[in-house]
Amino acid sequence: MWRKGDVIIKIIDVGDADYKAMLDMRNKVLRLPLGLNLFDEKLDEADDILFVAYYDRGGSELQVAVKSELQGGASQGDVSQGGLQGTSSLQMVGCCILTVAQKQKKDYNKTGVPSGKFKMRQVAVRENTRGLGIGKHLMLCAESYAIKSGFAEIFMSARDSVYTFYEKLGYKFKGKEYIEVGLPHKIMYKKLPKINKSDLDHLLGLKEYL
Ligand SMILES: CC(C)(COP(=O)(O)OP(=O)(O)OC[C@H]1O[C@@H](n2cnc3c(N)ncnc32)[C@H](O)[C@@H]1OP(=O)(O)O)[C@@H](O)C(=O)NCCC(=O)NCCS
Repeated sequence: MWRKGDVIIKIIDVGDADYKAMLDMRNKVLRLPLGLNLFDEKLDEADDILFVAYYDRGGSELQVAVKSELQGGASQGDVSQGGLQGTSSLQMVGCCILTVAQKQKKDYNKTGVPSGKFKMRQVAVRENTRGLGIGKHLMLCAESYAIKSGFAEIFMSARDSVYTFYEKLGYKFKGKEYIEVGLPHKIMYKKLPKINKSDLDHLLGLKEYL
């Protein structure tokens, strides 16, 4: 678990109660606005690394805003409360997923040795908690996990509306633009450093997560 200010990032499993809340949030942020439904997709995420962000400040304006958004339409199942012991004010506000790149998955499952790349998927922050650094915090936690696991690269299929978000985190473009879920996308990637404590000083923003 990582904590920074009022934001907590936790890794969950598909069997956890929070997984349902994560699916609801992903559906609401990433699919319903496009007229799609995540629950129509074949989800096979048991081997994936699932990161969720919680906001932890009972009674704050932010939490009131999250609650009023929920009262305005989403089901109670859309919010995670009390997902961590003794922290009943937690609200799930974001998520991302690291998937072992498909063509390497077979080798990885067989040997447990990472052969190179993680794919980042489903990066989502609840609309009324954007612009607070939650997305960046999620990405840096996921990157630190990937570095510690010995992976050399993270890549993603990025929507054009968030190219700048990823560029600010050091991701670069690869190849041509294409259409996915009806939106222009490009592959973006970032080479990860080998873990070596003496090299960490120049890893701007990442050191504190490792
Ligand atoms: C993209 C997303 C995850 C960003 O989350 P967030 O918590 O709002 O981002 P942060 O507050 O951590 O922003 C970090 C930096 O990126 C910038 N940024 C964030 N979203 C941006 C966007 N859409 N366009 C340009 N810059 C953006 C912020 O201004 C900030 O810049 P700074 O470091 O100079 O201050 C969020 O907007 C989201 O969920 N969008 C909808 C879902 C989506 O499109 N996901 C990506 C699928 S590929």
